[in-house]
Amino acid sequence: MSEFAELSLGDKKFQFPVITGSEDEKAIDIAKLRDDTGHITIDSGYKNTGATKSAITFLDGELGILRYRGYSIEELAEKSSFLEVAYLLIYGELPTSEQYAAFQNEIKMHTIVNEDMRKIFEGFPVNAHPMGVLSAMVCAMSAFYAGEKAGSDELNIIRLMAKMPSMATWSYKKSQGHPVNYPNNSLDYCSNFLNMMFALPVESYKVNPVISAALNKLLILHADHEQNCSTSTVRLVGSSQASLYASISAGINALSGPLHGGANQEVIEMLEEIKADDGDTSKYIAMAKDKTSGFRLMGFGHRVYKNFDPRARIIKKAADDVLAALGINDPILKIAAELETAALNDEYFVARKLYPNVDFYSGIIYRALGIPTDMFTVMFAIGRLPGWIAQWKEMKANKEPIGRPRQVYIGATERGYVSMTERA
Ligand code: CMC
Repeated sequence: MSEFAELSLGDKKFQFPVITGSEDEKAIDIAKLRDDTGHITIDSGYKNTGATKSAITFLDGELGILRYRGYSIEELAEKSSFLEVAYLLIYGELPTSEQYAAFQNEIKMHTIVNEDMRKIFEGFPVNAHPMGVLSAMVCAMSAFYAGEKAGSDELNIIRLMAKMPSMATWSYKKSQGHPVNYPNNSLDYCSNFLNMMFALPVESYKVNPVISAALNKLLILHADHEQNCSTSTVRLVGSSQASLYASISAGINALSGPLHGGANQEVIEMLEEIKADDGDTSKYIAMAKDKTSGFRLMGFGHRVYKNFDPRARIIKKAADDVLAALGINDPILKIAAELETAALNDEYFVARKLYPNVDFYSGIIYRALGIPTDMFTVMFAIGRLPGWIAQWKEMKANKEPIGRPRQVYIGATERGYVSMTERA
């Protein structure tokens, strides 16, 4: 054991190996802790617990670094496309032109969703939340592609990448009372999504390249974020050897929460509320600081970024560019900027290292692109899909054991059963 950590328990000492990641990240390997000492660790919210060794995404929360497979998020957002990044995440390397063409074609072969799945979809009420609908539809894929129809992991990966945008647009179409659109395989991934969202049978729809490029960038920024809540969910569910669809559906549900991906919807709703309240940002800053109010400044704070969220910086710039290119003057952008300045100069937020996160400005762009508020988290899910797939694939390739945390039991000790008539 070259480097080790020593633990003293009573009069005994135990040694545990220290492992070092490729970016010099250090971890104490406690795999033998319980066998050796009879103790477990407790770490609520897994704030100090590494669940896996991963070669997909590197993140340094102090320095604000995010890289997929070694490539910086800034460079990928500027130069790459969402499908290329998806390939990079899932297969580990940037594709050659032949590999990329084959990947795109495979996806195009599978964009149509089984018509029987439409019958499930039709049962949802018109105002169903699109995240609930999306997770249910992806879960339904685990029933449609099971047994003889299961196919290889490769095929299921392609099916998910191909069908998720199609299914995501159905909710919106239904909420509008419009017929759904079928995919148009002559369009690229983002344009095809926009066409399915916004094309109407009564008039042709032309994809605006500014909108398509902005969407491409947003999806790249969301594509992976190492072991966050939804990704850990995907890996945990997958570790039981549940199907890829079941694992991804669970990840969509985890993402829907307001502390995770659901924050992007909450941010816009909060900014709208502030606007309706005469734009009084100081009132909301005060509420966020008051622990009894139950209110948090949505889009602020992050478990791992304690300096700045690199995705938020890129998105803020993109929001300015997109609004200018589309000639949109959204009053909530002004409120967002005021709120950011107020929070960044407030001792409460400074002391707790609470900065705008990826969700703070993403909703403003989505709104400018015409995406309705309750679809924002669905957009996040479409972006995160290749990351979830890559993490699931890695978990499987590593033959990781079934995830099964332990606990410290604090309930009643053994007691005898008392019949109902004798209970006080
Ligand atoms: N507004 C007001 N206070 C906050 C906020 C906030 N948004 N976020 C954290 N705090 C306070 C919190 O009350 C606590 O204060 P104290 O130390 O006095 O008890 C301290 O800051 C640390 O917070 P925490 O809840 O222990 O931190 P965490 O790492 O468990 O939570 C978080 C991280 C993102 C869940 C949290 O910052 C939050 O709820 N933010 C708002 C929701 C949000 O924007 N979520 C999107 C995250 S980015 C997208 C994604 O990847 O999911």
